[in-house]
Formats: sequence, structure tokens, C-alpha cells
Amino acid sequence: MTNDSLQEKINSYFADLGLSLESIDKLSIYLGLLRIRDNQTYEHSLRVAELAKSAAEKCNFDINPKPMLFSGLLHDIGKAVISLNVLTKTEGFSEADMAEMVLHPLYGYKLLEGVQDFSAGVIVRHHRFQKNPYPSDEQMPKPNSKFSSSTFQLMDRCALVLGLTDFYDAIKFRNNDKFGTEKSSPDKIHSLLCSEYPSHLEIVSKLYEQKVFV
Ligand SMILES: [Fe+2]
Ligand SMILES: [Fe+2]
Repeated sequence: MTNDSLQEKINSYFADLGLSLESIDKLSIYLGLLRIRDNQTYEHSLRVAELAKSAAEKCNFDINPKPMLFSGLLHDIGKAVISLNVLTKTEGFSEADMAEMVLHPLYGYKLLEGVQDFSAGVIVRHHRFQKNPYPSDEQMPKPNSKFSSSTFQLMDRCALVLGLTDFYDAIKFRNNDKFGTEKSSPDKIHSLLCSEYPSHLEIVSKLYEQKVFV
């Protein structure tokens, strides 16, 4: 699917989900920043948003499609401030590069804090459920006092599903050598998902059963 037709599809979701003009305006500004920095991350974000919305609609995870679409679109917005040579590197990713890259959820949180606080909370958690999670507990921002403990639990649920859809898309469309240079088959993607999220296999199965993942 071309960039433009995917963007059109996302625009139609804005209307379906009844997003306010103010929310659409905010999204466009943030996404414009990502698009001019790195078009591949922008396209990945559109695809992840579609998957995350679909997961919320089909899988009974008790999460709402609207924040999933919003958080999916902006989950990697922090990458807009990562150095371009790290962001666009396709091979030979060093430890120093990784140390810079793992800061992107915290940068995303800072960019969205006070603008869209719920999504900021989801985004800072989207790599916290994988095998090598980040940010650490110590690095996590102080909890926003306006949210209850049940809202933080909801953020965790959203972030877990978002992380899974993110990982799925990243493997499927990757252009780096992180998992070898060959394109991953559907079986390979499934096995990588299971080894990356061993404590959440039921959720992985549900995403396949409901054909969010294929
Ligand atoms: Fe990310
Ligand atoms: Fe991502």
C-alpha cells in the first residue's frame, strides 16, 4: 500500500472514530515532524496505528480503538529527535547507537506531556513488555498525579498491545540486519514474537486468531 493511500485510510479512521478537529490537528503537526525526519518511521507509524486500532476492535482486550490509533501514530515520535545517522542506519548498529535509540520513548513522553497525557503514558511504556525492556523503572517519569491506578493499568494494557503490533510490523518490514538479512517468513515472525514476548503468548495467539496478524 502506498504512503498516500495508507494516509487516506488513516484519515477515514479519524472520521469513523469521531476524533475532534483539535486532535487531528495535533496529530498532523507531530506526524509532519516525523515524516520530514524519517519517512520510513512515519510509514511504520501509520501501519502500527492501523494494527493497534484493529487489535482494540477485534480482540476484546478491554482497550478503546481511539487511543490505540492515536498512540500507534505517535508511538515513535521520540525518534524525531534521535540523530539521523542512528535513525536511518541499516547495518552495524553499535552499543552507542542502541544507547541513543532506547531514549526514544522518553523523548516521546516529553514531546507529548501536557498535550496528550494518556498517550504520553502509553508511549513511554511501549517497549516495557519485551524481553529486554526499556526505559527502566528508575528512568520512568514520575507518575502523572491526575491519573488513577486503574488508568495506569489501562496504559499498561494499551502499551503491551502496542508493543506487540510495533514488533510485528518492525520485523515484517524491517530494512536492517537485526534478525539476519533475509526477509522474515510468517512462521519466522510468529516465532520471533513468541520469543520476544514469552509471558504474553495468549495475547499473541488472540492477535493471530482474530487475523490482526497473518
Ligand atoms: Fe519504539
Ligand atoms: Fe515502532
